[in-house]
Amino acid sequence: MTENWTPATWRNKPVRQVPAYPDPAKLAAMESKIHAYPPLVFAGEARRLKAALAEVQQGRAIVLQGGDCAESFNDFTANSIRDTFRVLLQMAVVLTYGASVPVVKMGRMAGQFAKPRSSETETKDGESLLTYRGDIINGPAFSAESRIPDPARMEMGYFQSAGTLNLLRAFATGGYSDLHEVHRWNLGFVERSPLAARYRDLSSRIDETLAFMTACGMTSHNTRELRETDFYISHEALLLPYEQALTRVDSTTGDTYACSAHFLWIGDRTRQPDGAHVEFLRGVRNPIGLKVGPTTEPDDLLRLIDILNPNDEPGRLTLISRMGAEKVEKLLPPLLRAVMRDGRHPVWICDPMHGNTISSNAGVKTRSFDAILSEVRSFFDVHNAEGSWAGGVHVEMTGREVTECIGGAHGLTMLDLGERYETFCDPRLNAEQSLELAFLVAEELKARRLPGRAPAVAAQ
Ligand code: PEP
Ligand code: CO
Repeated sequence: MTENWTPATWRNKPVRQVPAYPDPAKLAAMESKIHAYPPLVFAGEARRLKAALAEVQQGRAIVLQGGDCAESFNDFTANSIRDTFRVLLQMAVVLTYGASVPVVKMGRMAGQFAKPRSSETETKDGESLLTYRGDIINGPAFSAESRIPDPARMEMGYFQSAGTLNLLRAFATGGYSDLHEVHRWNLGFVERSPLAARYRDLSSRIDETLAFMTACGMTSHNTRELRETDFYISHEALLLPYEQALTRVDSTTGDTYACSAHFLWIGDRTRQPDGAHVEFLRGVRNPIGLKVGPTTEPDDLLRLIDILNPNDEPGRLTLISRMGAEKVEKLLPPLLRAVMRDGRHPVWICDPMHGNTISSNAGVKTRSFDAILSEVRSFFDVHNAEGSWAGGVHVEMTGREVTECIGGAHGLTMLDLGERYETFCDPRLNAEQSLELAFLVAEELKARRLPGRAPAVAAQ
């Protein structure tokens, strides 16, 4: 048991980014209702993910975490879930080959609904309204009514998460994730890409590997690892009343787990060591993440690590570096060194999205593919130079052909942003850009693999 902690102790701490609900009685009633609902995930699954992340920390696996910046109630369809899941699997196959280690797959899916915002209000044509904070809190429409935080939205979030997770579980184990299929989709991507010649080498090597495995008698029929996959869900633990309502005591261990997702993270705006979000997550036993942005000082980071993972448990804490392409080489090494000097062993992964948001001339938020790739490369360089394991990537992406980030092989420009700009929050890589990123990162990983750093575990 964590000392002086209960699922409610966060309420005694200063809390940021959680809205003031106008009707506290309605909020309390909704919290009790959700508290009585079944958990969305099972504690044993969270423990399995923690063990998989411990392998990452040991340099024997990498993480791929991705999905929408904000999921939406209006975009709740089998197709959108399937398309994002499919692209994540495609990326994972390519990265598995490049890194020659298993890839731990986590969606920003089935619960990624609550958003931290930099401003309390939004002003349009002289009218100021409360800002949109994600579908689980209020509505995106620019009207006073839709912007009122409404506890009823928590229930919708719960059921949408349950529906999404149900389909993801079916896809992961019901035959959709067969490695041969996923590879065939990648061949299709390569043939359509303007950079086909470049990607063909890697994809034909994967082809040969699969053919060799088949020749050795390993087929989808007799090998679970070729037919099924492990897929986990994750989101930012921002809306604490909802998260508290979904905590459960695990009957096999007596420990408390957040059962809204396997993995929860603390955002860059809510990581105050004495704040409510850190208080809540320090006590649940799930594997957790912490965004580490450019204003993080080494001492703050050590203090946070001390609070969130006092016993240095393997796989418990993942630090998600999001510095920006221009800053990462300067800001990451001092943090990395401080953590190593302190004898701490977190997983480190790179979010190359949130430090690279820019505005187009028309005031539309976008990100450049080159800056995203550059931050990932620098992140890997810094880890190599410091003798630390770069544990993977965290991206905002979608399986659809949106036009939200600029660049990539199809050369999207600022002028294209109006075509299909569909995000409810930050700009996402589209399917082609996501796969390109995976191919380019895989190429790098393959080139950098040190002789002697052979994978200690078989591909999954
Ligand atoms: C996010 O992941 O969507 C986000 C808001 O990130 P950060 O906390 O790193 O700004
Ligand atoms: Co975002």
